Amino acid sequence: MLPEIDHIRERAENELASLSTIDQLEEFRIRYLGRKGFVASFFERLSDLPLAERPVVGKRLNEMRDYIRSAYEQRLAETKAVPEKKPLSDPTLPGRHRFLGSKHILTQTLDEITAIFGSMGFSIVEGPEIEDDYHNFEALNFPKDHPARDMQDTFFLSKTALLRTHTSPMQIRVTENQSPPVRVIIPGKVYRNEAVSARSLCVFHQIEGLYVSKGVSFGELKGTLVSFIRQFYGSATRYKFRPTFFPFTEPSADIYIGCFLCGGGGCRMCKKSGWLEILGCGMVDPNVFRNVGYDAEVYTGYAFGMGIERIAALRYGIDDLRLFYENDVRFLSQF
Ligand code: DAH
Repeated sequence: MLPEIDHIRERAENELASLSTIDQLEEFRIRYLGRKGFVASFFERLSDLPLAERPVVGKRLNEMRDYIRSAYEQRLAETKAVPEKKPLSDPTLPGRHRFLGSKHILTQTLDEITAIFGSMGFSIVEGPEIEDDYHNFEALNFPKDHPARDMQDTFFLSKTALLRTHTSPMQIRVTENQSPPVRVIIPGKVYRNEAVSARSLCVFHQIEGLYVSKGVSFGELKGTLVSFIRQFYGSATRYKFRPTFFPFTEPSADIYIGCFLCGGGGCRMCKKSGWLEILGCGMVDPNVFRNVGYDAEVYTGYAFGMGIERIAALRYGIDDLRLFYENDVRFLSQF
């Protein structure tokens, strides 16, 4: 009987190793250790043996039972510790759609504009969004009583600190620290104390441009900006320069392009005028040069500034500027 006992012990051990669920283990327990199991049947046969053999066989049987029981208990504990594997998911279900992100339309527009000016030799500079009155207004030749200084337009943080209302103060910061020639563009966020509506935002973006050297002419300003218009809006785009006023440029101009929605006939987009204003520009006012210590007799230059939201809205026919900031994927994914 001894070889049989050893055999059943070995078999139990092998079987246990292959079991992985509580149900399988319970079935095992009943088959080996239950009242009518293998172990019990060996004990029943003990009484058939000659008296002399019983102690040895009995001892081996006890060892076998204890061994199987503790092996079973150990396996049960291990199985309980590991969460049961869930069945594989249904492969006939439709797959999960993964959305591919992309750059925000304003970032795309900004990238395109900076790439065009980059190819014309402009380098990119950035500046602080918290400015002082001097850089935002004073040094840019804004008279003390200019309406843009009014609380209506400017977010003041203190008597002198404010959120910049345009990127033009960077014209001052760059030229304060660098002698000519200077050829930079300055993208960035600007702030205006205005009620948010389809036509105006209180936070938006601008790109400022500045070129200062000896003998820079209005013709160069025109050449550069017309080249920009052709690259950005297409070579057939009609444009016009219209005189205007900015404190920091003289002469100053607004540039308009022909309305591409109506082709010039007049529509809602161009307010029936056939033209869309895209940027302001001009020759740097000599007073601005004096404020940064440039010799206005030796150096001339031009500057320009445009709103990114406006440029993008005009290009894609977007009639509500708030759409840029609502992060509605249905809007964003069109670009
Ligand atoms: N800073 C002006 C604004 O916010 C835009 C502007 C106009 C910038 C003419 C310029 C410029 O550099 O020459 O409305």
